[in-house]
Amino acid sequence: MVKVTYIAANGTETTVDATDGASVMQTALDNDVDGIVGECGGAMMCATCHCYVDDAWTDRTGDRRAGEDDMLECAADDVKPTSRLSCQIKLTEDLDGLVVHLPTDQV
Ligand code: FES
Repeated sequence: MVKVTYIAANGTETTVDATDGASVMQTALDNDVDGIVGECGGAMMCATCHCYVDDAWTDRTGDRRAGEDDMLECAADDVKPTSRLSCQIKLTEDLDGLVVHLPTDQV
């Protein structure tokens, strides 16, 4: 089991168990975490799954995938160096304990 913590823009923290291999976006939806919409279902066509990877985790989540930069231009909130599409981050054992911050707006 992989744990992931979502920190909302208002500071509320929600930690949930994720299925190994599930995305950060899908895990949020499966656990009713507010702040992730995931409108396109993970097809990298919406940017409503925008998140900011906590600074302590950026090395392990790696670089943005091809196409993420273009889609993030459509994000409703500020794009920062730590911005990712959460549907493109797959949760594996080496991401156990991952922390992501959620933007104020997704649409
Ligand atoms: Fe649409 Fe991630 S869910 S881009």
